[in-house]
Amino acid sequence: MSKSIKISPSILSSNFSKLGEEIISLDKAGADYIHVDVMDGHFVPNLTIGPDIIKNIRPFTKKIFDVHLMISPVDKYIPAFAKAGSDIITFHPEATENSGNTIKLIKKHGKKVGMSLKPTSSVNLIENYLEEIDLVLVMSVEPGFGGQKFMPEIIEKIKKLKEMVTNKGVNIDIEVDGGINFENCKSVTDAGANILVSGSTIFKSNNGDLKKNIELLRST
Ligand code: DX5
Ligand code: ZN
Repeated sequence: MSKSIKISPSILSSNFSKLGEEIISLDKAGADYIHVDVMDGHFVPNLTIGPDIIKNIRPFTKKIFDVHLMISPVDKYIPAFAKAGSDIITFHPEATENSGNTIKLIKKHGKKVGMSLKPTSSVNLIENYLEEIDLVLVMSVEPGFGGQKFMPEIIEKIKKLKEMVTNKGVNIDIEVDGGINFENCKSVTDAGANILVSGSTIFKSNNGDLKKNIELLRST
């Protein structure tokens, strides 16, 4: 049976001067998850937020915090992100010396594990871990910035991953991140994704009508 589509708005496109209010608005607008993009100016060419901010925004909602770590090395920061209130912790295999150890570390803290693939990263990088993780986050833009253009060639990769997941018989979420809009979201879910991340489309389309944009992405 296919999974229902979930929407994970990225707060990277929100107004950082009122993050708490933005989280409340996303919660009321029907977001399933809250996507938090963590960047270190090293693994990706941009800097965003760290565990202290996550800890401070945590009380504003009970929704799942879907934390996307674009930082390297990653292991030494996992305890802090776990304690700050992350629910899903996603890392990039290139950001760790040993993905198996990183997975164990995240699990030790009682959190769900995601692994993320950059546009040029092969699905083979994660194939051996599919039995151990909860989610694969497929990047459809180069990580680092919101508002970039969706890379259509990623559709084939999502299909390949979906096939791999089905063949292995594992219960894994496939999440897609970067440049998702009302035109391409159906091709992404048709290819096998069941969670859509979106920053620009949710915060900027239809005069920032969060509810409408979330519903449109979910139902299109
Ligand atoms: C990029 C981030 C994405 C991005 C999504 O590195 O991981 O979450 O901010 O934003 P849009 O939807 O604007 O591409
Ligand atoms: Zn992200």
